Amino acid sequence: MHHIEISESQDKGKRYQSLLPQIEALVKDEPDLIANLSNIVAALKEAAGYFWVGFYLVKGEELVLGPFQGPVACTRIARGKGVCGTAWEKRQVIVVPDVERFPGHIACSSQSKSEIVLPVISNGQVSMVLDVDSDRLDDFDAADRWLLEGVVNIVRQL
Ligand code: SME
Repeated sequence: MHHIEISESQDKGKRYQSLLPQIEALVKDEPDLIANLSNIVAALKEAAGYFWVGFYLVKGEELVLGPFQGPVACTRIARGKGVCGTAWEKRQVIVVPDVERFPGHIACSSQSKSEIVLPVISNGQVSMVLDVDSDRLDDFDAADRWLLEGVVNIVRQL
């Protein structure tokens, strides 16, 4: 599987439903983690059109920037800091409809207006977070959460 078939459905949920199995197929025969994370963020950027999408990998007491698509970003985030560090510490999905209203939000790009961060938990430990930013307010709904939770479920098993 070396390309993504983008559904033309007007319904975002339907487009995402056709995307998730393709992401699964994209990584199924490749054992290298960074290669797989790289293709996953490329597929999400291309098919879902996210402004910024990427992984931060847990390394010691920090998150370190991993494969991403979008504008240049912050490279290191401490545990408990920003939306990413909070999702790591609380082991919870965090949806921020307006980043200016999230105390401690780390502004990597002034264009970023809303954000969703999902922790990837494997063997009981957070190994990375998946961060998606939008340049529009309140841009993440239940369909985005469904897609990104599906992606995290695939990544957890890599
Ligand atoms: N806004 C994030 C930092 C990462 S960038 O948005 C890519 C945060 O507050 O954790």
